[in-house]
This record gives sequence, C-alpha cells and structure tokens, in this order.
Amino acid sequence: MGSNQLRESIVRMFLQHEGEVISGEQLRQNLGVSRTAVWKHINQLRTQGYAIEAVPSRGYRLRARPDALLPAVIKVGLNTAVVAKSIECYAELDSTNLRAHVLAEQGAPEGSAVVAECQTMGRGRMGRSWSSPPGVNVYTSILLRPTLALNEATQLTFLAAVAVARAIEKVCAVRVSVKWPNDILLNGKKIAGLLNELNAETEGIHYVVLGIGVNLNMEKEQFPPDLRYPATSILLETGQRVDRVKFIRTLFTELDVLYALLLERGFAPIRLAWEALFDLVGSAVSVDDGGVGISGVVIGIAADGALLLDTGSAHPSTIYSGDVRPATLA
Ligand code: BTN
Repeated sequence: MGSNQLRESIVRMFLQHEGEVISGEQLRQNLGVSRTAVWKHINQLRTQGYAIEAVPSRGYRLRARPDALLPAVIKVGLNTAVVAKSIECYAELDSTNLRAHVLAEQGAPEGSAVVAECQTMGRGRMGRSWSSPPGVNVYTSILLRPTLALNEATQLTFLAAVAVARAIEKVCAVRVSVKWPNDILLNGKKIAGLLNELNAETEGIHYVVLGIGVNLNMEKEQFPPDLRYPATSILLETGQRVDRVKFIRTLFTELDVLYALLLERGFAPIRLAWEALFDLVGSAVSVDDGGVGISGVVIGIAADGALLLDTGSAHPSTIYSGDVRPATLA
C-alpha cells in the first residue's frame, strides 16, 4: 500500500468508528505496518487538517476532519447502487465534465463520479463559463449509460435538478425552486446549475455526463461581477457554512435513488417531483434561445419536459431550449 492509500485507510477507520478511540495496535494490525509508521502517518494527517487526539495509553481519536473532498472520506456511509461507485477527486481540474468524457471514452463504468476542489475552465450552458473557486463549492460530473431513447435524454436534466434540490433541502434545511430547464434557485437567485452533455447517435445514447455545480460556501467577493442572472450561495443566504462532504454524499444518494426510479417507472414521477419545485406557473417570462426571444405566461411543462407558454395565440408555444427570465428581471 502506498503512503496516500495508508492515510486514506487510517481516515476510513476513524470515520467508520466516529468518536471512538482506536488503539495504535489496532491501526498497526489493520494496515500491516509498524507502530512508528502509524505515528508518522497520523502526524502527516494532522498537517492536512485532521484533528487527531492522542489519548494516553489508549490510542487515537479523530476530533475533526477537514472539509476536503476525498474519495475515501466521501465513500464512508455511502450506500449507492450505481452513482459514485467509483470516485475520482482532484485538487484542480480544467472541468469535471471534460474529465468525465475522457473516462467515458476509456470505458469507465456507469456511475463513475469526478469531483474537483476547483476548476480552471468550469463550463456553463450556452458556451458560458462557470465560476469555480477552490474549497468552497461542489463541482461534480457523473457518467451515466442509460437505456433511453435520444429524445428522452432531457429527462436526466430534470432528474438532476430534483436531486440537487432535495440534497439542498436535506442538508441546508432551505426550500429551493427550479427554473426551466435546469437551474436551481434560492430566494429567486441561482444557487446551482447543470450542464448535461450527451454522446449519442440517432439510434441511441452512448453515454451522458451530468455536470453539477452548487454554490455552497462561496463569499460575495468570489462571484464574477458580470453575471447575467442574480446568483448566490447557501452561505450568503443563510449565514451557515455547509459540510461539503455531507452535501456531496447526500447528492450522490439522491441521484442514485432518482435514477433507479427513472429506469423502473419512467419519467412521470420525476416530472411530478420537478413540477412541485417549479413556481413560475402563471408568471410572465421571456425566453431567450440564442438571440431569438419569446415572451408569454408559463402554463407548465409538457409530458416530454418542454416548456409550454401562453403567448396570446390560439395554441400554447412549445419550447425545447433557451434561458428563462421572469418578466420582472427582463
Ligand atoms: C449552467 O448553469 O450554466 C451550468 C453550470 C454547470 C457547472 C458544472 S460544475 C461541474 C461541471 N463541470 C463543468 O465544467 N461544468 C459543470
């Protein structure tokens, strides 16, 4: 076992026995190394932010862990069937979506997850960038290989939006809403975005990369000044810092549950769950699809997820892509 793996194993043992004292002998036996080596790795972990207390003549106890996104830490207590069965974490990456595409091409299994502490080329929808400062938010991409037809791929966007909303509600105890097709809002401001990318041919989907960015502990100064839509973070809205490890575990769990539901029962339950979070029905909006604008009042979404707008004509307009803004912000 290499040094990093040894330290991961020590962390895993502590997390699996939360609050308990583990003797040096137990650690030594489990890891198959000398007591001096155990002591050396414990000291190393302390420099990485793990508060490990030495309990005289008994052993060691983990008092606190750093809020770092590491596979060994995320995996403790994570009981998913598909999502994040394998996790790669990076201190810095160009984009988790780009890395997930590479994994997909290399034949990585469905559910593989990529996580980064920071992205140097975080990508947003419609060719925009996604601000990705280090250590404060969640940037992740999940590789899926669903047995869906090409025109059903957008169902995964609704699924991911519901999963993000549920994770935020569970971990941060705030209610969020969704903005068609794939933004998550808190107090009317954008808190999370999804960039789902497809590799497909007319006969079907090869794979999908679900890219998810959630603003958790981002400070006001860390937001770019020229945002098209008002944005926020959990910290800014609630004054509370979020435990990112707990958040990402909850997010992976929600994605896993909803993915199983989609494959078993189809889109209808996901659509219902999404609609319950959609509070723009009856509101006047404008939709911009790459410069082509259309205004109207939101009727709801169609069975396939398209946005239905009342534009004053005899039939509702069916919209498949674009950026929605409430008329009050237009
Ligand atoms: C948007 O609302 O424009 C979508 C933003 C999606 C951002 C996430 S962060 C993780 C993943 N990697 C990326 O480069 N983008 C997505």
